[in-house]
Amino acid sequence: MALHLGAQYILEHNVGISDAVLLHPLTEEAFIENIKKRFSHEQIYTYIGTVVVSVNPYKKLPLYTPEVIEEYRSRNIYELPPHIYAISDEAYRSMRDRNLDQCIIISGESGAGKTEASKVIMQYVAQVSGKGREIDRVKEQLLQSNPVLEAFGNAKTLRNDNSSRFGKYMDIEFDFKGDPIGGVITNYLLEKSRVASQIPGERNFHIFYQLLAGADPTFLETLKLSPKPENYGFLNRSGCIKVDAIDDAKDFNMVKTGMEVIGFYRTEITEVFQLVASVLKLGNVEFSHRSNADGTDGCDISNTGEIAEVAQLLGCLEQNLTNALTQRTVEVKRDKVKTDFSVAGAVYARDALCKAIYSRLFSWLVQRINDSIKVKTEQTRKVMGVLDIYGFEVFQTNRYEQFIINYCNEKLQQIFIELTLKEEQEEYIREGIEWIHVDYFNNAVICDLIEKSDTSVAQKNNVGILALLDEQCLLPGNVTDKTFLEKLNQTCKDHPHFESRTLKKNQSDRTLPHDAFRLKHYAGNVTYKVDGFIDKNNDLLYRDLSQAMYACRHNLMKKLFPEGYHKALDTQCLVNSLRNPSQKSLKRPPTAGSQFKASVQELMKNLLSKNPNYIRCIKPNDDKQSGTLDLEIVKHQVRYLGLMENIRVKRAGYAYRQIYAQFLYRYKMLADETWPSWHGDVVEGVKLILANQKIQQDEIAFGKSKLFIRNPKTLFDLEETRRERMHFLATLIQKVWKGHVKREHFLLMKRSQVVISSRFRGFYGQKQYKKKKAATLLLQCCTRRWKARKVLAELKHEKRCQLAATDIQKHYRGWQARKLLAELKHAKRMEWAARVIHKYYLGWKVRKNYKPKFRRIAGPKVARFMVVALKRKFLLNVRDKLPSLSPVDNKWPSSPKMYKSASDQLQVMHHKWRCRKYRRKLSEAQKYTLREKATASDIFKDKKVIYPESVPRPFKGDYLNIRGDMKWKKIHSLTNDINLVFADLVHKVNRANGKIVQQLLVVSSQAFLVIDHRTMTLKYRIPIEFIEKISLSPFQDKLAVFHMKKPENGDRFAKKGDFIIGNEHIIEIVTKSSLCVKNKTNTMPEISISPQCSGQFGSSAVQVSFQQGAKGLEPGIPGVKVTRKKHLMLISEP
Ligand SMILES: Nc1ncnc2c1ncn2[C@@H]1O[C@H](COP(=O)(O)OP(=O)(O)O)[C@@H](O)[C@H]1O
Ligand SMILES: [Mg+2]
Repeated sequence: MALHLGAQYILEHNVGISDAVLLHPLTEEAFIENIKKRFSHEQIYTYIGTVVVSVNPYKKLPLYTPEVIEEYRSRNIYELPPHIYAISDEAYRSMRDRNLDQCIIISGESGAGKTEASKVIMQYVAQVSGKGREIDRVKEQLLQSNPVLEAFGNAKTLRNDNSSRFGKYMDIEFDFKGDPIGGVITNYLLEKSRVASQIPGERNFHIFYQLLAGADPTFLETLKLSPKPENYGFLNRSGCIKVDAIDDAKDFNMVKTGMEVIGFYRTEITEVFQLVASVLKLGNVEFSHRSNADGTDGCDISNTGEIAEVAQLLGCLEQNLTNALTQRTVEVKRDKVKTDFSVAGAVYARDALCKAIYSRLFSWLVQRINDSIKVKTEQTRKVMGVLDIYGFEVFQTNRYEQFIINYCNEKLQQIFIELTLKEEQEEYIREGIEWIHVDYFNNAVICDLIEKSDTSVAQKNNVGILALLDEQCLLPGNVTDKTFLEKLNQTCKDHPHFESRTLKKNQSDRTLPHDAFRLKHYAGNVTYKVDGFIDKNNDLLYRDLSQAMYACRHNLMKKLFPEGYHKALDTQCLVNSLRNPSQKSLKRPPTAGSQFKASVQELMKNLLSKNPNYIRCIKPNDDKQSGTLDLEIVKHQVRYLGLMENIRVKRAGYAYRQIYAQFLYRYKMLADETWPSWHGDVVEGVKLILANQKIQQDEIAFGKSKLFIRNPKTLFDLEETRRERMHFLATLIQKVWKGHVKREHFLLMKRSQVVISSRFRGFYGQKQYKKKKAATLLLQCCTRRWKARKVLAELKHEKRCQLAATDIQKHYRGWQARKLLAELKHAKRMEWAARVIHKYYLGWKVRKNYKPKFRRIAGPKVARFMVVALKRKFLLNVRDKLPSLSPVDNKWPSSPKMYKSASDQLQVMHHKWRCRKYRRKLSEAQKYTLREKATASDIFKDKKVIYPESVPRPFKGDYLNIRGDMKWKKIHSLTNDINLVFADLVHKVNRANGKIVQQLLVVSSQAFLVIDHRTMTLKYRIPIEFIEKISLSPFQDKLAVFHMKKPENGDRFAKKGDFIIGNEHIIEIVTKSSLCVKNKTNTMPEISISPQCSGQFGSSAVQVSFQQGAKGLEPGIPGVKVTRKKHLMLISEP
C-alpha cells in the first residue's frame, strides 16, 4: 500500500518516537528522554496509543494555524505528528459518523496547559464543522464564552498567570451533519476566597484589573471608581497588580465584545459591572471600634462616603446597608434582637458579602451564557464534552480550596485508571485473551478516604473526611477547626494515606504543623491547614445581609439574593445558604463540600456515559520558563499520572476492539462472501473478511465476543481498503442507478413522443375544420347582408316617396289656412276702425253741444271734493303717526303748511291728554315725590348751579335706613317725630369759628333733629315752624343757611339763631323742609338764592358771603373753607 503523505511527513520530520508504545527499551528514563528530545525540537505532543501527552512549551508555537487544521482534517491519527487536532478530529468524526457521544478529559496540574488545550480543541471544532450564518453565530457564541468566563473566573497565581479558579465542563452539541447547534456549560466551585484576599504575588480575578484599566473614564465615573487598582483594598494587599504577559485594557474590550456577541443586553452588561464595582468599593469600607453602653463591642463605618456610593450604585438606602454591615439579628427566645458586630466581625461579614456577591454573579454569568447558547430546537443531537477543571495544586499553605481541588483531581485520575488501566486489563481477561497483569497504583483508596459516606452505626469510624467535616458542621455548640482536626485524627489514624502530628507515626515529623493534616495524594503529599475548614464548608451568610441585598432596587442584585425575600424563616439559623440561593426551605442547606461531592459524582457519571479521549498535560518546570525541562518535575508527573503503566497496558494489549457483529457490519464489503449480506455465523464471517484481507494471525486475537486488533496500522489499512471498496461500490451503485434513470427517461420520452404527435394531429385537423367552417359562415353572412341591404334600399325609397307626398300636402294646407286667416283679420280690423271713428265722432258732437253747461255747475263741485280729500288725508296721517304715550316724547308728525295751526293745537291736546293719563296711573307716594321734585324745580331751576345734577336722582329721604333703628325708635317715641322725611350725616358749620363737624340730621314733618351719630343721642330739636327763611348761594357749594324766626317768649332754639349745614342732598333737604314748613304753617318759607345773605348767630348779626374761585381748595363736601371775622362769615369755594 502506498505511503500516505502524512506518514511521509512523520518519517521526515519526526524526532524521537511519536508513540511511546513503540519505545524500546520500555523504561521510565527512555520515556522521559524521548519527551525531552521531542520537547527540545518543539514537538510538545507525544502519543501513548490514543492518549495525547502534552508538555507546556510556555511560548507561542506555529502549531495552531488554520493551515495546520486543514492538514489534520479527516486524517487518521497516526498519519501526522501527534497533535491535539488529531485527537479532536478522531473524537469529532466518531461522534459525527459513528454516532458516539464523546468527551475529552484534560488533566494535569495547575499551569500544565489544560485551558490552552481546551481552547485548541474548540478552535479545531469551529473550523472543521459546517458553515452558514446560524452555525457561525453559534460557533462565535461558543468561542466568545471563553474570554468572558476567563475574565471572571481566572486569576494570576504563582503557578500560572491565567489560572482557572473554577472548574468547567462544556458540552458542545451538534446536529446530525456535525454542525454545532449550541452548548451547555457546567461550572464547578469558584475559588471565591480570592475576592477578599490573595497570597503575596498573586492577583484577584482578572476582571477587576481589566475594568479599571480598560473602561473609559466616564463609565468608571458612573461606577464611582478611580482607575488606580492601588486604591482598592482587595487589589493592593498582595503586592501584585501588573502582570507583564497580560494586557488588562485589551482584555477588557474583548470581554465586552464577547458579552455582546453572546447576547448580553446593554443593561445587563452595565449591571454586571456595577456589581463588580460595588464589590471593589465594599472592600474599601472600614470600621472603627465603639464601646457600647452595655459593655459590648460595636463598630461604626469610618469612611461613610464609600458606603453612600455603594448604596447609590445598588439603589438601596445607605442606612440599611450600614446596619446590615455593622449589626446582625439574633433570636433570643423567639425575640429578634439586634447585636452589634465587633470590628473583626464586621470585616468578616463584609468579606463574606463580597464573596457571595461575586460567586453568585459568576454562576449567574454561566447561566446567562447557557441561556444564549442552549439549543433552541427539539432535534436529536450528539454531544462532545470538554472538561477543563482546575489542576492539582500544592502551595506553601494549602487550605480548604486546595483540598477540594485536589479531591476533584483524584476523581479524574480514578476515571483514567478505571477506563485505561483497570477496565482494559479486565476486559482482556473477560474475553479470554492471554494476558500478563500490569501493576499500577489505584487511587481509589484516597478517594475513599475523602468521600466515603458510610453512616451506619457499625461503620461510624469509617467515614471520609468530607462526611466528617459535614458532621462537625452540623454539631450544635462550639465547633472549631481544632475539634474537627481532633475528630479527623481519631477517625483516620490508621489510614495509610493520612498523616497528622498527633499520630504516633508522625510525631517526630517537624515538617507537619500541629494545626494541619497531610494527605498522600496520587500526585504527591499535600499538607492542609485546618484553619477555615468549618467556616468554608458551612458557607453561610448572615440573613441581614441577604435581606439588604434583596431590598436593593438593582435588578441583578435582587435576582442574586432571592432568599432575602423570606422574612421570618428559620428561627434558629439566621443565616442563608450561599450555594443554593433559591433554597427556601427551613432545612439547613447542604454544605459546600457535600454539594461539590454531588456535582463531581454527577460529572463522573456523565463522563462514563461517553467515549473518553485523554489529553495528559505536563508542566516542564515550576518557573513558567520556555525551553527548560526539569527532569525531576517531569518524572514526578509521569509517575503519578501513571503514564508508564498506561504504555505497558497499551503495548501488551490491542489497539482496537470491536464486537463481532459490529465489525462484520462495518467491513462486510471487504469479502465477496459477506457482501451484501452474510447469513452464517458472525465469527465465521469476520474470519472470512480477515482472510480476504490477508491479515496475519499475530495481528489479531479472537475474544469471546470481540475481535482484537493489535496494531492501529492494521485497522487503518482495513479502513483504507473499506474506503476504497466503498468508493468502488458507490461508483457501481451510481453507474447502475444512472443507467436505470437514463433508460427510464428514454422510455418516457418515447411514450411522450407518441402522445404528442397524436395530440398534434388531432389538434391540426380540428384547426383546419374550424377554418373552413368559419369561411363558409363568412360567405353566407356576406350574401345575406347584400340581399338584406337591397331590400332595405327598396323599402326606404318607397317610404321616402310616401313622406314627400304628405309633406307637400301639409305645406299646401298650411298656405291655404294662412291665407284665409289674413283675410279674416283684415275684415275684423276694418270693422273695429269704423267703430272707433264712429265713437269719436259722437263724442265730438256731445262736447260741442254741452260745453257752456259744464263750466257753470261741475267746476265748484270738483274743487270742493278736492279740499275734503286733502283734509281727510291730513287727519289720517296724524292718526297713523301719533307719538308714544310718554309725556317726554316730543315727536309729532309733520303737516302741510295750510294745516300748521291745527297741527299745533292737536299736539297740545294730545300732550295734555297723555299727561292726564300718565298722572292717573301714579300712586300717592309717586305723586308726593313728584310734588317734591316740582317744588324743587320751582325753587332752584335756573338759579342754583348744582340743581340740574339733582334732577335725575330720586329723593330717597332716609339715606341711613334709620327708620328701623332701635335707637331712633326710642328718640321718636319721646319727641313724637314718627313721620321721618330725611335722614343723613350732614356737615354743620360752627357759627363761632367756621369749623365743620359731622352730625346726623333728621328732618321730620314736625322738626329738625340734630343727633350725635356716634352715640345716637339727640342733641337738640328745632320745631319746623321756627324756620322762616333759607338762603343758598347760586354756586357749586352744597350749603344752606337756615334762618330762624325772631324769638318770642324765650324760644330756646330761635334764640340760638341761624345755622349752616352742608350735605350732598342739600337740594332735597331744602325742598323737603320748605314743604314741611308749608304743611305746618300754610306758607312757604322765603328762599333766597344769592351770593350774600345776612344771618343772626345768637345775638350778633353776621353777614354771610359766598365767594367763588378760591385757589387750593379740594372740591367736595363741604368742599369749602369757612372763616369768620367778627360780623363777616366768608365761605370760599373752588
Ligand atoms: N500549547 C501551548 N502553547 C503555548 N503556551 C502554552 C500552551 N499551553 C499552555 N501555555 C502557557 O501556559 C500557561 C498556563 O496554561 P493553562 O492552560 O492556563 O494551564 P492550566 O489550565 O493547566 O492551569 C498559559 O497561560 C500559556 O502561557
Ligand atoms: Mg486552567
